[in-house]
Amino acid sequence: MRLLVTGGAGFIGSNFVRHVCAERPDWEVVVFDLLTYAGDRRNLAGLEQVKLVQADICDEPAIDAAVASADAVVHFAAESHNDNSLHSPWPFVQTNVVGTYQLLESVRRHEKRLHHISTDEVYGDLELDDPAKFRPDTAYNPSSPYSSTKAASDLLVRAWMRSFGVQATISNCSNNYGPYQHVEKFIPRQITEILEGRRPKLYGSGENVRDWIHTEDHSSGVLAILERGRIGETYLIGADGERNNRAVVELILELMGRERNDFDHVNDRPGHDLRYAIDASKLREELGWRPRYNDFRAGLEATIAWYRANVAWWHPQKLETEAKYQVLGR
Ligand code: NAD
Ligand code: DAU
Repeated sequence: MRLLVTGGAGFIGSNFVRHVCAERPDWEVVVFDLLTYAGDRRNLAGLEQVKLVQADICDEPAIDAAVASADAVVHFAAESHNDNSLHSPWPFVQTNVVGTYQLLESVRRHEKRLHHISTDEVYGDLELDDPAKFRPDTAYNPSSPYSSTKAASDLLVRAWMRSFGVQATISNCSNNYGPYQHVEKFIPRQITEILEGRRPKLYGSGENVRDWIHTEDHSSGVLAILERGRIGETYLIGADGERNNRAVVELILELMGRERNDFDHVNDRPGHDLRYAIDASKLREELGWRPRYNDFRAGLEATIAWYRANVAWWHPQKLETEAKYQVLGR
């Protein structure tokens, strides 16, 4: 198997590549990644099965050549951060929509199997007391430039499957946490703020709920779908990890030896989605997938330890990231 992984030098893509190298040592993996601010070749250090091609998925000849020489493609490459999409939406349209279009045209031309990585945010948000969770047939209702471009990419994949017979699957996953996540994101931002001697920053009231899953569990779900998923199907990946943001900040503070109320409330995100929640029963029942990281406290503790031990990895991103947040009052 020669597997092409777009966005494989980012947070989740590189975790997936490490997972594949451990689980399928005879596979060859080609990572196709532009190495934007969010990609880092160090995330792939020491992986002998992996070759990195630095290029843009919107670059038709480049993506076409990579697809032509692969047996299957897993598509992680995207602009992924909601806050960035609110003040600079164009790269989201370009990479998430145009880039996915270019990739689809290549897999169509070369008749290659595709797995498309998407997000639970395409379904919009839920009320705090809504008993329903997102399911594969939930109507799309995205809120932000980020989630609307991911929704658009999913719809392109669905259309290419139906109209052109492209052999694809889609997964929509909830919020990931774990090592190698960029410090612009919620959990690493709070950990590194504390490591830098500052206070965590909670948007608005902190009542917003996210459904946390360890990135290793996301990766095992993706591999299961790639190998055993039914072509044409959408699978939701989630580990029943709902928590509100305030509770997560309090737990991080406690685990790092600070008072649980030692945080600041900052400006809320415009259009801030209230709650996400995934019903992953299709993935569990059809493919027998189970998350292994069921203890959020232990997973968070290990993640904190990783950021403590890898200051050289995140420190260069930190200054630039906080300068951006300062302009937004967040
Ligand atoms: P990330 O921002 O950490 O990584 C994105 C990667 O894509 C980077 O390596 C970047 O260099 C690369 N990239 C960006 N534009 C590119 C382009 N034009 N051409 C080639 N490569 C490009 O993102 P992440 O958090 O690892 O998310 C990966 C995927 O998973 C995304 O599709 C995202 O929508 C989806 N997802 C993320 C989460 C989450 O919690 N982070 C949850 C569900 C789904
Ligand atoms: O649900 C899956 C999605 O999860 C993915 O599709 C996205 O790529 C990923 O970035 C993530 O989106 P969120 O917007 O939920 O993640 P973020 O880490 O930006 O924020 C998580 C929550 O924390 C959200 O309610 C906003 C809040 N927040 C965020 C930051 C950065 C804060 O309260 N303070 C902060 O400093």
